Amino acid sequence: MHYNHTIVLVGPMGAGKSTIGRLLATELGLNFFDSDREIEARCGANIPWIFDKEGEEGFRKRETQTIAELLEAPDNIVMATGGGAILKPENRDIIGKYSTVIYLHTTVAQQLQRTAKDKNRPLLQTENPEAVLKALFEVRDPLYREAADIIVNTDRQSPKSVVRTIMKKL
Ligand code: S3P
Repeated sequence: MHYNHTIVLVGPMGAGKSTIGRLLATELGLNFFDSDREIEARCGANIPWIFDKEGEEGFRKRETQTIAELLEAPDNIVMATGGGAILKPENRDIIGKYSTVIYLHTTVAQQLQRTAKDKNRPLLQTENPEAVLKALFEVRDPLYREAADIIVNTDRQSPKSVVRTIMKKL
């Protein structure tokens, strides 16, 4: 199948955006981009370094720039976004303008499991990552829902089965 539109995956840390995005892109014959990895490539440093040196605000500026650049390029793509990309109205506008938006929904328990050993997420390097994930979910879940054309639950499902569900809904 060749899907003739750009797809953007939104949702919290540990929802499976990168894994599922990559599989989905293969299935659709499109190139896959992960906005976090593209930010790192453009900056020549990893996300913890950017948060440390430039703060979350510096990271968010880079994120907005990178997302716009990827979406304004002429090719249709599949793009996974960072969990906080939904926060800025300008990101929401550009994502909505250029893409079919898929919200990968999952529980905080599952997010915790999937992110437990990951040192690359500065927001979770705290005593109580569960409380952080819960607080972020409260704020962001309504924004993901509002932006989404399609909502898919990834809780206790294999990436392959999530991709099959998405393919049926496209
Ligand atoms: C963030 C999520 C991360 C990354 C950064 C901030 C967030 O992306 O962009 O650490 O604010 O939720 P993933 O959702 O891919 O982990």
